[in-house]
Amino acid sequence: MPLDLSVQLAPKRKRGLLLANPVMTASGTFGYGTEYSQVFDIQKLGAIVCKGTTLEPREGNPQPRLYETASGILNSIGLQNIGVKALIREKTPIWASWQVPVIVNIAGDTVEDYAQLAGQLDGVTGISGIEVNISCPNVRTGGADFGASPESASEVTAAVRAATSLPILVKLTPNTGDIVRVAIAVAEAGADAISLINSWKGMAIDIAKRRPVLGNIIGGLSGPAIKPLALSMVYEVAGAVDLPAIGCGGITSASDAIEFIMAGASAVQVGSASFSNPRASLDILDGIELFMQQEGINKLTEIIGTARC
Ligand SMILES: Cc1cc2nc3c(=O)[nH]c(=O)nc-3n(C[C@H](O)[C@H](O)[C@H](O)COP(=O)(O)O)c2cc1C
Repeated sequence: MPLDLSVQLAPKRKRGLLLANPVMTASGTFGYGTEYSQVFDIQKLGAIVCKGTTLEPREGNPQPRLYETASGILNSIGLQNIGVKALIREKTPIWASWQVPVIVNIAGDTVEDYAQLAGQLDGVTGISGIEVNISCPNVRTGGADFGASPESASEVTAAVRAATSLPILVKLTPNTGDIVRVAIAVAEAGADAISLINSWKGMAIDIAKRRPVLGNIIGGLSGPAIKPLALSMVYEVAGAVDLPAIGCGGITSASDAIEFIMAGASAVQVGSASFSNPRASLDILDGIELFMQQEGINKLTEIIGTARC
């Protein structure tokens, strides 16, 4: 009997967001997908989430913007991207010919920015969904500010909901007092699924120069260092909200991914792991299939949330 790894990420939306398997790429770590299509067969993945997109092109923050830490990476890219118009013109015609669904990650300085972005992406062929980034820790305005409180998170989600019929994933920040309350607020405001988490605020200091390492001073910590933190947040949010949760944070192996799924995630996103192993997402997918074969699991959905107490 062939394995069924499919997952539905927008069960409450008529058009749905059906993925052939639960392995997605995390925004900002997989470009526009096109870069990796030379490296492996990206069509095998569950979905690709592209780099955070803003209304206008952005050059990002001053260098240095990346710094390796024990078990993680600090980044302060600052949403460098080509802007939504170029994305629609140059990337979506390529995505339209792909089998793998592409989700566009959006970010803005104001609630109106988010609504405009969602409106411009609505109905564009080649886009299967929108991931609303209210969690970027390294931009001066917008970003994680919106995800820090239930009220502002709800306001952005409602504005995006009103502007598009596409499935909406809202991506939460761990840099908040109560991520469960934020998750409940975005669910009530019309999100179809919840992605969590974005990177944690962090920094490093060059003691010889007596200055912060990153040009932006503060960055976001990602990678294995944040996995247990992300896992507990997924566990708590999945238990509180009746929407698919998408787990992200430090996933480098199939067993990491399965932990998130057993905690209640319907899908997972692979981020920093793609930097050290560009095929990481595919290796993780292969490992999940192997686990299912070894354990006699026919449908992936059978193990979602099975570790919940
Ligand atoms: C270099 C870099 C750029 C990122 N850019 C974005 C982005 O544009 N939008 C976004 O929502 N998240 C962005 N992220 C966060 C990742 O998508 C992910 O949430 C985070 O890195 C945690 O996952 P990981 O530990 O597997 O990397 C970025 C992360 C890194 C390392």
